Amino acid sequence: MSNLVYQNDELSFAGIALGQLAKTYGTPLYVYASHMIVANFNAFKNAFTHPHYKIAYAVKANSNIAILKILNALGAAFDIVSAGELDRVIKAGGDPKNVIFSGIGKREDEIANALQLGVGCFDVESIAELQRINSLAQAQSMIANVALRINPDVDAKTHPHISTGLLQNKFGIALNSLYAFVDELKTLTHINLIGLAAHIGSQITSIEPYQQSIKTLLTVATTLKAQGHRIEKINVGGGYGVQYADENPPSIATFIAAICAAFIDLPYEIIIEPGRAIIADAGVLLTRVEYLKQNEQKNFAIVDAGMTDLLRPTLYDAWQNILPATHHANISAKQYDVVGPVCESADFLGRNRRLAIKQADYLVITHAGAYGYAMSSNYNARLRPAEVLIEEQTYKLIRRRETLKDLNALDI
Ligand code: LLP
Repeated sequence: MSNLVYQNDELSFAGIALGQLAKTYGTPLYVYASHMIVANFNAFKNAFTHPHYKIAYAVKANSNIAILKILNALGAAFDIVSAGELDRVIKAGGDPKNVIFSGIGKREDEIANALQLGVGCFDVESIAELQRINSLAQAQSMIANVALRINPDVDAKTHPHISTGLLQNKFGIALNSLYAFVDELKTLTHINLIGLAAHIGSQITSIEPYQQSIKTLLTVATTLKAQGHRIEKINVGGGYGVQYADENPPSIATFIAAICAAFIDLPYEIIIEPGRAIIADAGVLLTRVEYLKQNEQKNFAIVDAGMTDLLRPTLYDAWQNILPATHHANISAKQYDVVGPVCESADFLGRNRRLAIKQADYLVITHAGAYGYAMSSNYNARLRPAEVLIEEQTYKLIRRRETLKDLNALDI
């Protein structure tokens, strides 16, 4: 990756030496490069040939307010799944009209709050949810804009934990119950149907599942329009895969070209909801080697970041590259399991990695910008890391490290 280069044996990211950042701010530390977020967003934007489209950044991938501000300034809309994410978008200057509220389990208070704040669209996943939104909108004498999230029963060929478009998954409305939905819609006076949506999974590395999903969405749109419904927007979801290891995902341009090709001469606004493809490679996680230890079978590098800081290896057996922040010509490489300090055998960041390292070195986990900090926790009463943003050859703290005081603040 060209933004990660060794200069005089020290690894730098976007021109800044990572070892230096680790010393300045301590570890574990998330570091993001602003220009990569901009480049990724613009890659989506520049690829669109369809006249009407919206790029709604999936806030769940990384909800740091400084990062949301960058995306807001670029003209992003936002896909959110909770009142907390909505609050962070608004704090970043985002307009609630540009927010899509997704998620299968929206609570009453979250819906009422989102209505009050003027959220642009609710993506609805069940009749019960539609009824709830209708009555809460009625109570506020408002009309809620909704899109129906369809489950197109498409196999996105990704890890089972991040596959969402199959009938065995909890997401979306199955096609065979759609028409019951539409009947229900006729009786709901405070709902304005404006579109359809689908999101079939994450870290998708081929185009075909999108093409299948879009085909279903377009068929449903035609049917509903024939019945007199107004379908103006089609949300094809997120899920655009990135290269962590030896996957070979299509480029952002190729993904978007294929999507636009499916909408040629169609009047719909296309909405996409990328998260990972915007922020994954724009972030790294820095960690320090606390101890090296070995037994007859294994060498372990015990580092100060663990599953509480980066859960993806544990949860999905995900592979992310691990590089030493300092290159040592005089140390011979050994195969290590890079493991965290958490009391779980599943607490690892990488297994069987060849590394030339010593105690007190810093290691760099790449592609950690998406679903890294966002999935962190306080398990083992650990303090969550700090986050730093590199912008225009300089850097700044965008979230301070938690303290023991933060950790204990809510106990009564
Ligand atoms: N839209 C909806 C409705 C979603 O549920 C998601 C992700 C996205 C968009 C964004 O997907 P992306 O472009 O980031 O793939 N924690 C997992 C990923 C979970 C994704 C959940 N939904 C991971 O670390 O791989």
